[in-house]
Amino acid sequence: MKFDTPATVNPIDNLRVIGQATSRIDGSLKTTGKATYGYEWHGVFSAPAYGWVIGAAIAKGRIASMDLSRAHAVSGVIAIVTAENAGALDKGKYNTAKLLGGPQIDHYHQAVAVVVAETFEQARSAAELVRIDYEEGAGAFDLAASWDDAKLAPKSEDSKPDSAAGDFAGAFAAAPVQLDATYTTPDQAHAMMEPHASIAAWEGDKLTLWTSNQMVAWTTADLAKTLGISKENVHLLSPYIGGGFGGKLFLRADAVLAALGSRASGRPVKVALQRPLMFNNTTHRPATIQRIRIGADSDGKISAIGHESWSGNLPEGRPETAVQQTRLLYAGVNRMTTMRLAMLDLPEGNAMRAPGEAPGMMALEIAMDEMAERLKMDPVEFRIRNDTQVDPENPKRPFSQRQLVECMRIGRERFGWDTRGTRPGEKRDGRWLVGVGMAAAFRNNLLMKSAARVRLDSRGIVTVETDMTDIGTGSYTIIAQTAAEMMGVPLDKVVVRLGDSAYPVSSGSGGQFGANNSTSGVYAACVKLRDAVAQKLGFNSAEVQFADERVVSGNRAAPLAHVASNGDITAEDFIEYGDLSKTHQQSTFGAHFVEVAVDAATAEIRVRRMLAVCAAGRILNPKTARSQVIGAMTMGVGAALMEELAVDKRKGFFVNHDLAGYEVPVHADIPHQDVIFLDEADPMSSPMKAKGVGELGICGVAAAVANAAYNATGVRVRDYPVTLDKLL
Ligand code: MOS
Repeated sequence: MKFDTPATVNPIDNLRVIGQATSRIDGSLKTTGKATYGYEWHGVFSAPAYGWVIGAAIAKGRIASMDLSRAHAVSGVIAIVTAENAGALDKGKYNTAKLLGGPQIDHYHQAVAVVVAETFEQARSAAELVRIDYEEGAGAFDLAASWDDAKLAPKSEDSKPDSAAGDFAGAFAAAPVQLDATYTTPDQAHAMMEPHASIAAWEGDKLTLWTSNQMVAWTTADLAKTLGISKENVHLLSPYIGGGFGGKLFLRADAVLAALGSRASGRPVKVALQRPLMFNNTTHRPATIQRIRIGADSDGKISAIGHESWSGNLPEGRPETAVQQTRLLYAGVNRMTTMRLAMLDLPEGNAMRAPGEAPGMMALEIAMDEMAERLKMDPVEFRIRNDTQVDPENPKRPFSQRQLVECMRIGRERFGWDTRGTRPGEKRDGRWLVGVGMAAAFRNNLLMKSAARVRLDSRGIVTVETDMTDIGTGSYTIIAQTAAEMMGVPLDKVVVRLGDSAYPVSSGSGGQFGANNSTSGVYAACVKLRDAVAQKLGFNSAEVQFADERVVSGNRAAPLAHVASNGDITAEDFIEYGDLSKTHQQSTFGAHFVEVAVDAATAEIRVRRMLAVCAAGRILNPKTARSQVIGAMTMGVGAALMEELAVDKRKGFFVNHDLAGYEVPVHADIPHQDVIFLDEADPMSSPMKAKGVGELGICGVAAAVANAAYNATGVRVRDYPVTLDKLL
């Protein structure tokens, strides 16, 4: 089904199941340990062997020699795979560096070997005995030292490196009120609970991979490409995922090494990346340096806005697109944005929850707070005054929907914004300085083709199959709700099967595009199934209705199950999109409000309460959507106050490469959160009229925390994370 005219009334506008706060249908499988995660499949293959991954001990250079003899002598060791004995290996389309390095080393902890043994412990102890001598080369590891001469972003398939409108330089110079400030965000890690983990088994030239991956079709193709086999010979299963946040969008070393280990040993092989390897071996969100200039008239109208971002990556990597929101969020005739990329030899930078906007909003929304202060304006009012209903770089393009102002007004009211101290340091609660801050939230809405297959059987069960993934987001549930709504059956008559490369190709999970696109694909398949059912009954498909497990047309009716009594009825279709997203800018909006307390003596920072107000199209399930947003708000607090991969600038690696050294919020850090969704349905986004929320929820949070810390203390921190030493 092609979606190219705005959705008007469609079969699901009279909603019964969609929009309900339904609990996850896969919840009990997960809480009882029955859900099969990547490393947890048992009994579907013969006795497995275990792989232990060895990561490079240098950031750049070459392996001079490798001595495997002592490791091979350890009892239980079956095979040791290295680049030297693995045979020809290509690189996946979505990989920046090779997933099995050697002799050339591209980054620290790039995998250089996998030791396969009868037991996990044997593999681990044998790996200790592998001796590798390196020739260490000189590398570049310091973004701050490279940013002045960072080159123009060399590859920007999905976003232009520069944008401009009007005369930024002239308007900025002439503006009576100006801000020119530079902000930094550190490298960050996804730090998901479940590590990257895979089990591989060969049968002849056919490979089965049980894994944990957000994008089944990308990864199936990249695994085949890496191994030099046909993708028809790869069967990939990823039905349950213990968190991804973008770290599992791509094929990673666990999958390749499990496949190679299995080929070398003739056994099914299990490989989980060891936690201390993950931070340097896999991808991370790259650090940024962002210079923001804003010029405004004395009445608070922005006349010039400029945002330049520098980030680093390996030679074939891309820049962090931290200027994305600045192209769209606020009005102003004279504008410019640029992205520059420094070549660094740190581990591979790539997408992490809301790539672009998450770090971009961390900078822009502090800048807006600073600018409001210079203008002596309320920060909410300053943002409202600079709202735009059209793409400010291209004013002929309206937003499909934009309720940013409504979000801010509702949030201001609900949070008690007007009771905050307007002068920093004004409010005190015993030894605590109390501050309130806010930020806008913004994230684009992305459209992706997505397919599904639906089947009706003689019990009246509707089974949905799509290679869509559920990364803890609730995909199973909203897909079941969609099929139940469309076919007029209760939720317990829907079976959802996900995460299998044998199923139709979906959008996958990423970029907050999963919910809207995958359910739209299911919608399309259900429209076809409804037609097939109507045809079978001889009903007019234009007027047929599906409700209460019955099919009704005029004064004729039939139980749904009877239609399939002589055999299953199957339909498959996909959603794909026309030009609506070109003629109309599709984005999601919100506002974050945060109260913090800062210890007047020690500068310890405590978040006290948080509110997010979101305008993100139709909310398919308020319960799972709320869970997405509170999780994202929590991650935003991490970004504000604690998350930072510390770069060793001599050796080129992230020093704090485990969950003890890389700090993320715990329950005690997040005492109170509220989420409000505006009642929206965007007819331009899809037949579901939904958009994404999972990444909107993080965008702006860290700036709201930083602005609250400023309001509490009067100390403006422009370098994240906002740790107590920076407030003293
Ligand atoms: Mo997201 S960073 O595209 O999983």
